[in-house]
Amino acid sequence: MTGWRSAANRLHTVPVTDAPLPTNTPETHAGDEPTWWRHGVVYQVYPRSFADANGDGIGDLEGIRSRLPYLRELGVDAIWICPWYPSPLNDGGYDVVDYRDIDPRFGTLADAEALIADAHGLDMRVVIDIVPNHTSSEHPWFRAALAAAPGSPERARYIFREGKGENGEEPPNNWLAVFGGPGWRRVPDGQWYLHLFDSTQPDLDWTNEEVRAEFDDIFRYWLDRGVDGFRIDVAHSLTKDQTFPDLELSDDILSSEPVTARHPHWDRDDLHDIVRRWRRILDDCGRDVMMVAEAWVSPERLPLYLRPDEYHQSFNFGFLVTPWEHDSAFAAIDRAVREAAAVGSTPTWTLSNHDVMRHASRYGLPIGTNWRTWPLTGPADLLDAQAGLRRARAATLLMLALPGSAYLYQGEELGLPEVWDLPPEVLDDPVWENSGHAQKGRDGCRVPLPWTVDRPSFGFGDAEPWLPQPDSFGGLSVEAQRGAPGSTLEMYRAALAERSAHMCSDETLAWLDLGDDVLAFRRGSGAVCVVNFGPTTIELPAGQVIVATTDVSDGLPTDAAVWVLPG
Ligand code: GLC
Repeated sequence: MTGWRSAANRLHTVPVTDAPLPTNTPETHAGDEPTWWRHGVVYQVYPRSFADANGDGIGDLEGIRSRLPYLRELGVDAIWICPWYPSPLNDGGYDVVDYRDIDPRFGTLADAEALIADAHGLDMRVVIDIVPNHTSSEHPWFRAALAAAPGSPERARYIFREGKGENGEEPPNNWLAVFGGPGWRRVPDGQWYLHLFDSTQPDLDWTNEEVRAEFDDIFRYWLDRGVDGFRIDVAHSLTKDQTFPDLELSDDILSSEPVTARHPHWDRDDLHDIVRRWRRILDDCGRDVMMVAEAWVSPERLPLYLRPDEYHQSFNFGFLVTPWEHDSAFAAIDRAVREAAAVGSTPTWTLSNHDVMRHASRYGLPIGTNWRTWPLTGPADLLDAQAGLRRARAATLLMLALPGSAYLYQGEELGLPEVWDLPPEVLDDPVWENSGHAQKGRDGCRVPLPWTVDRPSFGFGDAEPWLPQPDSFGGLSVEAQRGAPGSTLEMYRAALAERSAHMCSDETLAWLDLGDDVLAFRRGSGAVCVVNFGPTTIELPAGQVIVATTDVSDGLPTDAAVWVLPG
């Protein structure tokens, strides 16, 4: 049984197909209107781990509200709040029970409205998560489906099928769940339902008009409450090949990429009709709202999601998975810039989020290390934490100089490392169990934030946090770094302040040749960003240093970045 473990290793693979790219020259999304998301900096809040105002060890909306001034001071344009809906939290809230309410552990609908109003008062936008591929198994629809008979309208909202084998005892096909294990689960009357993630996350049937109409209404519901955008979870799923064919599953296929062309449940052409429908709802609302796709697809396919009547933006995971190496970084950036421009969008840049190892640790591992399995397999001394932080800071300065928008993940402004050595008994991510303990999962990037230097919770809240924080968090806390020259927090604040002045005047980028292993480009304002991937210190271009990741008085050292205004 190695197959399903391999599936877990591929949490979010990158399917490739040979479909043609859009070749038209569509108009831009917003015409010539300035629109916030084209170059906005969006700060991702993972509510459970941001700030706990009511002292139950779990972050909440009041906690977020109380820290909005901090985010304003940091200089971000918007916050993206991960799912805040009622949920058993089997998958951190990506298992939704009610899409029109707030989990009582996080607060109330009134708190959400107050949070949106406060954020707007501070000139920050609010983006929320929509999870359309699946609900929680505790959603009233799924409860009704279980209570109803095979073939009923209640079952038709999900993907129930008869099994194979003499008595239907085999799953309908061999699809696997992303978190590990089979993608189907049998219910007492013998039918099976599809769940591409945890078995408590049944997939909805998007061929069913009732499902489509329900989500139309959910979008309108939150637009009416003033949200400014939506992050669409697992945007590359939704539709499935209605013949439900077996996948060719061999370990070879599972562990190598590209996976297959024309995948039966990822990145299918027919999902785009649904996206267009959502887009019309957003366009009709009369405000400058946006939606961003979480689409783990190949770079060749990404532009399809960005056509003018589809998503405004998509996460560019090609950049996130690029190793700390000059040629790879150049290729990832150059491609993303050109492709977004071709469809009138702007590129997005992300280095960390709630699903991946924090970049301060990822960049400290040798290139090629599997950072999903390394926390378990080690060896521990592969990690060079200092180099990781150096590179993470340089990568951030590089990212913030690029045209388009940047998505920051809470705590990266503190240079937080991955807490990769959490003891198994505290692990909460379903990946740990579902992978048969082959991967620890994603808890290491979800450890509650340190706000102050002292224990017990480093200012997170009055109770013991839901995941333990390491001792090192005190020295990395906001209190420890605020006002401290050279701190990661101050570097982020400086970069965000200078970014609006120097990196957002237009959407162009001109590459400069400043030598091997040096990535350098000029933005429309004239400001130049230089990153040194090489082993030796290099000379800085002449001009005024605007922001740097380190002391550059003797040149730009290895793994450092700088913004210079030639003069
Ligand atoms: C997305 C989320 C991830 C979640 C999964 C299933 O990839 O980012 O956290 O586990 O979808 O909803």
